[in-house]
Amino acid sequence: MEEKYKLVYRQLEAMVSMEQDPIANMANVAALLHETFGWWWTGFYRVDGESLVLGPFQGPVACTRLPYGRGVCGTAWERRETIVVPDVEQFPGHIACSSLSRSEIVVPIFKDDDVVGVLDIDSKDLSAFDQTDAFWLEKIVSLL
Ligand code: SME
Repeated sequence: MEEKYKLVYRQLEAMVSMEQDPIANMANVAALLHETFGWWWTGFYRVDGESLVLGPFQGPVACTRLPYGRGVCGTAWERRETIVVPDVEQFPGHIACSSLSRSEIVVPIFKDDDVVGVLDIDSKDLSAFDQTDAFWLEKIVSLL
């Protein structure tokens, strides 16, 4: 796991240093993470006023807008911190874009001191994410 993350981080660092456009970079981050780890859904939501709007992603069709302070994404935005959900059914207000998602991690993206979006990853397995994922994914989104 650590080794895979180290390799992915190095690749993304090189990619992001060559391109300024955040959407292009988000697209490649989603693609590389999704392909490397084989998750169910890997993608971004960007802050747009009072909601999050769907950004670049890999996986099945997803909800296009998520409200502030609700669901895992909206809560990570409100709390300004990474949220690891071992079992989505136990998370009050979880928004199910896909009934096959069982666990989830959401990592806020900061620009200066503001949350500008989140990285959201879903797995079909329970308890797929832990503090190692949180550590590396926070490092990865800080490249954006
Ligand atoms: N489950 C998320 C919604 C986004 S989808 O998982 C892609 C949430 O509760 O915010």
